[in-house]
Amino acid sequence: MAHPLALSLLVLGLSVTPVLAAEQDPNTGFIIAPGWETVRNNCIACHSAALVTQNSGSRAHWLSMIRWMQDTQGLWVLDNNTENTILKYLSSYYGPKEDARRPALRIDQLPENPYRQSKS
Ligand code: HEC
Repeated sequence: MAHPLALSLLVLGLSVTPVLAAEQDPNTGFIIAPGWETVRNNCIACHSAALVTQNSGSRAHWLSMIRWMQDTQGLWVLDNNTENTILKYLSSYYGPKEDARRPALRIDQLPENPYRQSKS
């Protein structure tokens, strides 16, 4: 019979894991979401999937990367539908990274200091 602790860990693991991480394809690491197979079919022939998944950016960023590979690295022409699927997937799941903290405001963007000494 299974150890009761093992059983409770199993139950805990099953209930907690899906909340923690998006499901990933075990072979490529791609997040499993609409379009991921199209990306797998077109984007790992020349380099590992990790080169894709460690990158991130807007749709425009991904498009420029695709154009660069087409112009210089022998990436084939993608039909509109395929290209859109790829761009939508990448910009959604590997989109621009947001800073945890916004940049500091410039001095001219700050409210007037109510405690400033009046010049006399
Ligand atoms: C025909 C070959 C080929 C295919 C197919 C291909 N790539 Fe690339 N890709 C390259 C080459 C070559 C590099 C440069 C590799 C290096 O720097 O080591 C590269 C680099 C990259 C990089 C890293 C760029 C950087 O700034 O470091 C990303 C991201 C990338 N590819 C994404 C993709 C995506 C997304 C697809 C699918 C649409 C794709 N690749 C399909 C050839 C290809």
